[in-house]
Amino acid sequence: MGGSKVAIIGAGSVGATIAYAIMLRDVASEILLVDVAEEVVHGQVLDLSDANLITSTKVRGATYQEAGQADVIIITAGAKQKPGESRTQLIDRNYKILQSVIGAMKPIRQQSIMILISNPVDVLTHIAQQLADIPRNQVFGAGTFLDTSRLRGLLAQKLEVSANSIHAYVLGEHGDTQFVAWSSASVAGKPLLSFPEFKEGDKEIIEKKIANKAYDIIKAKGATYYGIGACTASLVEAILLDKREVRPLSVYVDSLGTVLSVPAKLGFDGIERVFDIPLNEPERTRLEESAASLKEICAKYHT
Ligand code: 2OP
Repeated sequence: MGGSKVAIIGAGSVGATIAYAIMLRDVASEILLVDVAEEVVHGQVLDLSDANLITSTKVRGATYQEAGQADVIIITAGAKQKPGESRTQLIDRNYKILQSVIGAMKPIRQQSIMILISNPVDVLTHIAQQLADIPRNQVFGAGTFLDTSRLRGLLAQKLEVSANSIHAYVLGEHGDTQFVAWSSASVAGKPLLSFPEFKEGDKEIIEKKIANKAYDIIKAKGATYYGIGACTASLVEAILLDKREVRPLSVYVDSLGTVLSVPAKLGFDGIERVFDIPLNEPERTRLEESAASLKEICAKYHT
């Protein structure tokens, strides 16, 4: 079969929601769902294929070897956070799972683009960049794209403009050391901080809300999947349609010597450019602190 193939490793709620969101966008010809739990794959494929009237994307179960030949490979396999557990606490379990799924897919097609979703996403992206044997700019993580979407949603309510008209980023770790780059946030070319609707005290409140949102969802219903589903489908579309969108993604930042989220251009070749966003002194310090904490974790998992 010709056309674009997207492989999703892990057929749990996150993997299936990503598959569904990609199908609704109608940008891929085929989705390959892969999981060691074959019965779950069978059920998800049957359920997803019921959306066939509104999409031309086909979905089927596949092997790790087939997944390694896909145009885009999305890794969602791994343990999820228990209520109150941080993303970094998943590293021991998810490192082993990542090693095994990448091993099972090898040799990975040299042109494939790999997107990491499993947490802790920055650390796992760094490890995947070392293990996948494909160019580093073709391996990235969803990073703080979801947190940025949460931020823009809250600001949209406050300023009563569409979230798409707000230029603002959450940067750093997709986790507890993330921060908002307030100094560069703007709407219609006007600095966000100059809007009378936005008060200085809002910064801390909003930042806390974003950082806690996943914890709140996990406490209430056990897992988060719609937000990451929508974000990942839009990343897949940016790749397959070569949209060159600028998104905050987990990428290797040379000046910091680690993987974390900064704005990056995403197109057909993967990460095509990493931007050096202007930050004020406190924001620069927070980026460096986020990098230092991630480097400490990565050092233990050097391959
Ligand atoms: C999220 O932020 C848990 O990383 C996941 O929704």
